[in-house]
Amino acid sequence: MESNYYIFGASGHAKVVLDILFSKNYQIKAIVDDNPKVEDLFSIPVLKNENIPLSEYSKFVIAIGNNAIRKEIVEKSTYNYFTAIHTKACVSELATIDEGTVVMPNAVINAATKVGKHCIINTASVVEHDCVISDFVHISPNASLAGNVIVAEGAHIGIGASIIQGITIGKWATIGAGAVIIDNIPDYAVVVGNPGKIIRYNENE
Ligand SMILES: CC(C)(COP(=O)(O)OP(=O)(O)OC[C@H]1O[C@@H](n2cnc3c(N)ncnc32)[C@H](O)[C@@H]1OP(=O)(O)O)[C@@H](O)C(=O)NCCC(=O)NCCS
Repeated sequence: MESNYYIFGASGHAKVVLDILFSKNYQIKAIVDDNPKVEDLFSIPVLKNENIPLSEYSKFVIAIGNNAIRKEIVEKSTYNYFTAIHTKACVSELATIDEGTVVMPNAVINAATKVGKHCIINTASVVEHDCVISDFVHISPNASLAGNVIVAEGAHIGIGASIIQGITIGKWATIGAGAVIIDNIPDYAVVVGNPGKIIRYNENE
């Protein structure tokens, strides 16, 4: 029997994830949102969680941009998650991508890079060779990571940011839009500018 695909969340990010599934001709049964502001997205019904018929063929992806919320949903659930890679993403055969991660059009994931669970590798971002992207990370559109960069759990790399080779970005750190990162970044740090400077720390996840 064919899998039935479901998307958590009905926001703008969900539209882009939906587009990935359309690109793959996946059978999308419903969008799941307990507080839906819309009844459907591009003719796919938006249903409450309690109305989703679960079976071994039901597969889910969380289309919510907030890294901490994705983690919270995963920790509370036992769903079967799938990985959604747009047909126009460029993913090396030598890279690995774990369950629940979404990869947008024109993103590049190069050789020997490992991407964890429930990450967002957004439109036209570049993750070069030998990088390690941990669970619940978001690499925003047009951000570029050179080779051997490590991004710890839950970090958010802002739109258009650049990270030079060999850098480690700490867990739940935020790299501002357009920042240029030339030093390792501690856990929870919020960094902006070129070269990137810490302006504050995130309180928690
Ligand atoms: C870094 C960021 C999280 C900071 O947000 P914030 O904590 O609300 O910070 P504020 O807007 O209060 O700004 C604080 C200071 O940092 C500066 N600043 C904020 N973001 C900056 C950026 N990206 N580059 C340079 N300076 C920035 C502000 O000008 C301000 O400077 P001031 O104190 O001299 O006035 C946010 O600005 C940002 O860049 N987010 C990334 C968004 C993104 O990439 N979205 C993609 C979604 S797909």
